[in-house]
Amino acid sequence: MSIINGQLSLPLNKKITKTLAKARCVGSEPTIEVFNTSGEILVNNLPVGYVDLIFTSPPYNIGSKAARQDGRRKNGEYDPKSYGGITGYADNIPEEVYQKQQIDILSACEKILKRDGVLVYNHKPRRKNGEMIHPMNWLSKVDGLVLMEEIIWDRGSTHNHSNKLFWPHTERLYVFRKSSGDYRLLNTDALKFRSDIWRVPLTSRPVDGHAAPFPLPLANAVIKAFTSINDVVVDPYSGSGTTAVASLINRVNFIGSEIDADYHAKSLKRIEATKSRIAKGKINLTAMQEVA
Ligand SMILES: C[S@@+](CC[C@H](N)C(=O)[O-])C[C@H]1O[C@@H](n2cnc3c(N)ncnc32)[C@H](O)[C@@H]1O
Repeated sequence: MSIINGQLSLPLNKKITKTLAKARCVGSEPTIEVFNTSGEILVNNLPVGYVDLIFTSPPYNIGSKAARQDGRRKNGEYDPKSYGGITGYADNIPEEVYQKQQIDILSACEKILKRDGVLVYNHKPRRKNGEMIHPMNWLSKVDGLVLMEEIIWDRGSTHNHSNKLFWPHTERLYVFRKSSGDYRLLNTDALKFRSDIWRVPLTSRPVDGHAAPFPLPLANAVIKAFTSINDVVVDPYSGSGTTAVASLINRVNFIGSEIDADYHAKSLKRIEATKSRIAKGKINLTAMQEVA
């Protein structure tokens, strides 16, 4: 990847243009493209009004150097299983900088959505210095988006066991439409649930070494709910490529970005492995719909 003054250098820009041309071809195999670049660069280089669905989960800014009781993290070191340990990214920037970054990227996301496009943003209430930080703190500051749903994702487990608090077993999927557009109809036929509580257990072991993948059935359900064949899905924080894989399975086009070269390379392998499993008829579509 090369970046000049925050813009994509010519080869990558050309690559995006080529990808977009392919993604628009109705009837062809879905185009699945993940760039090794930042989400900010990707969404600022996609055309306005182009995307049907953005489904994404940013880093949560929860990196810590405090010692852990189980000894996995000594004082002053990043957890080897956290972003800090794997990528050199501390995931621990000042909270106001983090929230400003999120507002900026979500504002750019709003621009690339089609008139009836949908943004589904996975996050969770975090606790810092004994206080809850709620995602609506920054989500309510993004212009042009209207909150339509707050889906409770019940993961059924937590990393945060405190004797002083109830254990947080849930995350959220915030579903937005554009204020200047319409909310597209849900494709409910393919879904086995209609409530706003989704019980989807966390993937039990990291997929391809990624520290925080969301489960494939979660991405599968979101894509089934909000897209039709040949639509375009974007995930600016693509990670292990879960949204990409769910797009491939559901025959929708996908464009993503992952800043870490190692995660990016592994996600490309995962996508290729999925293509070969699809070709051999080894993907159990029914099982993936079991989300609630
Ligand atoms: C919560 S994880 C996403 C996991 C993903 N949903 C999956 O299922 O694998 C966030 C990802 O964003 C990546 N990341 C962090 N900052 C980024 C940025 N500015 N642009 C793109 N990716 C970034 C991290 O390396 C990490 O892989």
